[in-house]
Amino acid sequence: FIAEIDADDIEKGTYPHFMLKEIDEQPFVIRKIIQEYQGDNDDIKLESDIRQAMLDADRVYIIACGTSYHAGLVGKQMIEKLAKIPVEVHVASEFSYNMPLLSEKPLFIFISQSGETADSRAVLVQVKEMGYPALTITNVPGSTLSREADYTLHLHAGPEIAVASTKAYTAQMAVLAILAVDTARAKGYELDFDPMKELAIVANAIEALCDQKDVMEGIAKDYLSTTRNCFFIGRGIDYYVGLEGALKLKEISYIQTEGFPGGELKHGTIALIEEGTPVIALATQENVNYPIRSNVQEVVSRGANACIISMKGLDQTDDTLVVPEVHDLLTPLVSVIPLQLIAYYAALHRDCDVDKPRNLAKSVTVE
Ligand code: G6P
Repeated sequence: FIAEIDADDIEKGTYPHFMLKEIDEQPFVIRKIIQEYQGDNDDIKLESDIRQAMLDADRVYIIACGTSYHAGLVGKQMIEKLAKIPVEVHVASEFSYNMPLLSEKPLFIFISQSGETADSRAVLVQVKEMGYPALTITNVPGSTLSREADYTLHLHAGPEIAVASTKAYTAQMAVLAILAVDTARAKGYELDFDPMKELAIVANAIEALCDQKDVMEGIAKDYLSTTRNCFFIGRGIDYYVGLEGALKLKEISYIQTEGFPGGELKHGTIALIEEGTPVIALATQENVNYPIRSNVQEVVSRGANACIISMKGLDQTDDTLVVPEVHDLLTPLVSVIPLQLIAYYAALHRDCDVDKPRNLAKSVTVE
């Protein structure tokens, strides 16, 4: 049995593409997640077995592919910073053939929108054979990865039809934040972080950005209508969002993109910067605001056309777009919205098939 949804059964409504509809649904998805995971008296509603599995683990191994892998990178920051458990994030197809040395009590977390990705399943089969516990975070609870793991956390994002994942990505990070906080509380850590309150702020911020589609369309036109390539830079958590922005843009617009850490520019990639090369820089983290801005200067002085997306409070006069302020562990849920919309409009203006890009499938069930 493969949990499948027929795209024809789901209406696009007034939207020209599923991708745009799914981008717009993100505030509702975040609010739905808050509702589903809100317990009594500010508690988090989570199966006690999952809580125990997190407490028992001496190390968490996150396994995923594509966009879900990028959500996993952000999840690592959340779990390490809040719950103080070391986390490794691995691309499933690499892990299955090159398994690293494992810790004594690992917990495997599989992140998968569809729950059907063959590369991830191959790892799940291996680690179950080795007797290790596994949790699947998925949008499809009846899916293979969900049925074969010990535990499941549901994303509640509703069916995602566009091949380019948008709302599943933000949902994955929201659920990972809730899981991280729940574990931290179970370990008795005092946190200055109420996930439901902070996620509600995120939902409003996403809504505000979705209301600025004309701005994102303008950015897509100005920076991307004829370019062959585009770079995304950031540091820390912004670097991970840059990877997702680069993937989003390349998969639907066929522009060659690369996301990389700002500090690595000088070790090779800066050689590719020419007059007019678009560079999208993210600046949402206080601790790296200064260094990322000097990276922007480095590319601008070599002719790059820099688009700076910053967060309110850290913004500077020439920034292209300023996103509303949210908790610094949750900035990816907000800073990715302009990147999704810019990718959408770039693909539209370049006459690409937004919802069904060439050579790609929504769910990849072969290794
Ligand atoms: C495919 C999709 C991507 C997705 C990846 C992982 O390549 O086109 O959008 O991120 O698979 O899918 P999953 O369902 O496991 O999250």
